[in-house]
Amino acid sequence: MAIEIEQQQQQPSVGLSRVAVSDTHGEDSPYFAGWKAYDENPYHELDNPSGVIQMGLAENQVSFDLLEEYLEKHPEASSCGEGKSGFRENALFQDYHGLKSFRQAMAGFMEEIRGGRAKFDPDRVVLTAGATAANELLTFILADPGDALLVPTPYYPGFDRDLRWRTGVKIVPIHCDSSNNFQITPQALEAAYKQAQAMNVKVRGVLITNPSNPLGATIQRSVLEEILNFVTRKNIHLVSDEIYSGSAFSSSEFISIAEILESRGYKDCERVHIVYSLSKDLGLPGFRVGTIYSYNDKVVTTARRMSSFTLISSQTQHLLASMLSNKEFTENYVKVNRERLRKRYDMIIEGLRNAGIECLKGNAGLFCWMNLSPLLETNTREGELSLWNVILNQVKLNISPGSSCHCSEPGWFRVCFANMSEQTLEIALKRIQDFTEQRKLQ
Ligand SMILES: Cc1ncc(COP(=O)(O)O)c(C=O)c1O
Repeated sequence: MAIEIEQQQQQPSVGLSRVAVSDTHGEDSPYFAGWKAYDENPYHELDNPSGVIQMGLAENQVSFDLLEEYLEKHPEASSCGEGKSGFRENALFQDYHGLKSFRQAMAGFMEEIRGGRAKFDPDRVVLTAGATAANELLTFILADPGDALLVPTPYYPGFDRDLRWRTGVKIVPIHCDSSNNFQITPQALEAAYKQAQAMNVKVRGVLITNPSNPLGATIQRSVLEEILNFVTRKNIHLVSDEIYSGSAFSSSEFISIAEILESRGYKDCERVHIVYSLSKDLGLPGFRVGTIYSYNDKVVTTARRMSSFTLISSQTQHLLASMLSNKEFTENYVKVNRERLRKRYDMIIEGLRNAGIECLKGNAGLFCWMNLSPLLETNTREGELSLWNVILNQVKLNISPGSSCHCSEPGWFRVCFANMSEQTLEIALKRIQDFTEQRKLQ
C-alpha cells in the first residue's frame, strides 16, 4: 500500500475533478485512523494476543450461526435458481425494480421488526447497495449542491462522506448534549435551522438515525412527533435512517417514524423517507443490501431510476427473498438476535461499571456511548484525542472518539461490542479495567 502511494506521488500532476480532490469524504478522521491501527496490528487470541482489539466497527457477528443453519437446511436459497433455466433467468435479471419476491420479503421483514405496528407497501421499496448508497441517493434527490441537511450530533462519521462528498450538500449539526441524554429538542432544531440561515444556506431536510448510532438508544415517540411537526412547519423533508431497528433490544422500545405516520393517518407523509439495510440486523454488510422506503411517489420513481448505479446482485436478492420470506426463520432470528445483543450490552455495561466508567443508558444497537470525561487532562477536543491516542496505542483498543461523530462535548467514546467473541470482549474489558486502575494510582 505504502509503495503504491509513493509511486503515485512521483507521477507528474494531471488535474482531477473537484470531487476527486475534495476532502469532504472525511476519511482523515480518527474514526478511520483507528481502523488503520487495528489493520496493522490486529488482536488474535493465539497469534497476536497483544494486538489491537477492534471496538470501532459496528458489525453484528452474534447471530451468524442462525444464518448458517438456515442455509444448511435450505441449499436451494443459495443456488443460482433451479436448473439451467433458473440460472439463466437469474444471470440476465437486471431490472431496477428488483425481484418482486425480494421486495415483498423486505417489506414483510421491516414490518416484523416493528412488531407489525407499521405496514410497508412492496411497491414503495427501492433497492440500493446498502444504506450508504440509500443515504447518498436520497440526498441527491432532496437537495442541490450548496443546500444543507440538519443532522443531530453525535452522528455516524460515514455521513460526512455519504451525504456531502459527491452531492456537494452541507451538513449543519443539530447540537445535542448530555444535559438531557443527547435528546433532540425543538430548541436545538430551531438553532440549527437559524445557523444555516445565517450561513445563507437553504435547509432541505432533517436526517435522524433511529436507533441512534453512536448513542445506542432509540428516539422517544414525543421527540419524533416534535421533529415531524418541525419539518412540516418548515416545509422540508425528514429522512429516518432505521438501519439499527432490528437491534433494539425489544420491538416495543423502538418506534419507527412509519408508526407515527400511521397514527396520523399519513398526513404530510410525502416529506418522509426511511432508510434501511441488512448490514446490521442480519450482519451482512458485505452483501450490500439496502432500501429506501419513501411515501413520496416522485421520490420513489426517481430513486428507482438512480438505483441503476447501485443495484443489488440478482443472486443476493434470490437468496434473501427465500430467507426473509420464511416466517419461522425470521421470527426466531429477530427474537434470538435481540436477546443476544442485550446480553452483550449487559456484559459490557457491567464490565465498564466495574472499571468505574458510566455509559449513556442504551436500549439498542451494537455499541454503547461511554463517558470518559473524568479521565481527560483537559476538557477539550485535544484532550479527548490525546486520551484516544493512549487507549489506541498503549491499551490497544480501537474505540471511536466522540469528536469523530461531531459530538460537541469532549470525553465521550463509542464502543462496539458485537463484532467479537465473548472471550475477546472479556479481554478488552480487562484491559480497560487495568487502565483505569493505573490511572487512579498516578
Ligand atoms: C447510521 C448508519 N447508516 C448507514 C450505515 C451504512 O450501512 P451500509 O453497510 O448498509 O451501507 C451505517 C454503518 O455503520 C450506519 O451506522
